[in-house]
Amino acid sequence: MNFELKTLSLAAAAKLSTDTLIVLISNQFKAGKDPLSVLIDKAIKAKDLTCKAGQSLNVYALSGVSAPKVIILGLGDAQAVDVKAAISSAATALKSANTTKAVILFAETPSAQTLKAAMLALADATYVYSTTKSKPVTRRLAQVHWGVADANIALKHSFSSTVAMVQGIEFAKEWANRPANHATPTMLGKAAQALAKTSGMSCEVLGPKEVAKLGMGSFMSVAKGSAEPLRFIVLKYQGAPKSVAPTVLVGKGITFDTGGISIKPAPEMDEMKFDMGGAASVLGVFKSLSLLKPALNVIGLIPACENMPDGLAVKPGDVVTSMSGQTIEILNTDAEGRLILCDALTYAERFKPKVVIDIATLTGACVIALGALRSGMFATEDSLAEALQHAGQEAMDLCWRLPLDDDYADALKSNFADVANVGGRAGGAITAAKFLHRFAQKYPWAHLDIAGTAWKGGAAKGGTGRPVGLLLQYLLSQQSSPQTKSRSKAGAA
Ligand code: BES
Ligand code: MN
Ligand code: ZN
Repeated sequence: MNFELKTLSLAAAAKLSTDTLIVLISNQFKAGKDPLSVLIDKAIKAKDLTCKAGQSLNVYALSGVSAPKVIILGLGDAQAVDVKAAISSAATALKSANTTKAVILFAETPSAQTLKAAMLALADATYVYSTTKSKPVTRRLAQVHWGVADANIALKHSFSSTVAMVQGIEFAKEWANRPANHATPTMLGKAAQALAKTSGMSCEVLGPKEVAKLGMGSFMSVAKGSAEPLRFIVLKYQGAPKSVAPTVLVGKGITFDTGGISIKPAPEMDEMKFDMGGAASVLGVFKSLSLLKPALNVIGLIPACENMPDGLAVKPGDVVTSMSGQTIEILNTDAEGRLILCDALTYAERFKPKVVIDIATLTGACVIALGALRSGMFATEDSLAEALQHAGQEAMDLCWRLPLDDDYADALKSNFADVANVGGRAGGAITAAKFLHRFAQKYPWAHLDIAGTAWKGGAAKGGTGRPVGLLLQYLLSQQSSPQTKSRSKAGAA
């Protein structure tokens, strides 16, 4: 979908040839003398329309207006929730067969945040998955021109980062949605390599031999039950001088989670193809970085494998040795995410990172705690937690901080190894985070548990592309942090 930002008045918009013209009116709406204003004014006076978020009026073949169809859409206070409500109320029209081009005009110049909310909501409402359909029906809406009275610098800036954000979100949705037989660890590796063809990017994909050499015994134990060979993907984006410490993103890449020998029940097991949502979000962020090319260094690490039951599979009670040297008693083979992530967290040390953030569909307990609205967020430093929370708000991709008290780690004691891979049911999202915490001692670290937010079940089953928005917003906010300020002074940023 092609997005463009245009300086446009209501009078000028009336003369544009497009399939559908949408006029967004907030509570601040003031009518002018152009044909659209006159219509809106009359409709409001007749009480057929209010400016409330999601209220709408469809008009056809309006004289003085070139577009065959006009939708007047209430924006209310133009807050993120209002914008989302407004755009989703027009979703059916935007998805209709005869709308390939649309002009969406803000009657009042929006804030950068309002514009971003509208763009994200529109992309989400019109997204279509088609890769594994025999007769692919793709998104019909091909071009959207966003009209504002004054395309100022702040709007232009927000517009271009949001265009890249949408691309990243849709890349993550695509890979998350692909069935496990169309998104194997090998295929994820190839996707990463293809992404890295852009300048400033590189990618290395390690296989079973290299991973064994690194001593990733914990990661390898999860892959043992699968006929699909594991992959360890290392993506690098260099947009700042080499001396600038990178941010490392680690994405859980379980391409299918049966639970292993601790097998899951059959209902909804298909949804465990989404268990690589963390990996998909890392790929999505790199997609956005390839388009935006910000002055940052970012490393993406993706341990990818299947978790399968088999004669060769790891068994409950087995003890494995992680890359860190710590031994782990695998009491439940279904707690596999932490087993692949811990080795990636150890691998991350070699980059002397500024920050490491792992992203994982880690625990059902996090879904019980926070539902589908907010991702669980853990952080070793308050400033990091605040930055992530703020980025989530800015990108409308919310998270909520959960604690990392050391006493929670008591649940992971083992009689036969340094640590067990599960505690009890109580505080399950936190004990999982505490397991990872043991392997993330050498740098500031955050963990995002996206088990509730990475995909939707039911009729709207599909990947959400979260938390690409949050992560990209966070990374971009780091561009102007003290570490990179010297660059902008020198005029390089
Ligand atoms: N991938 C699952 C977590 C999950 C479950 C995400 C349901 C979304 C919906 C993870 O590998 C897992 O199975 N976790 C177990 C951990 C338990 C055995 C301690 C869980 O949450 O049940
Ligand atoms: Mn599992
Ligand atoms: Zn899993």
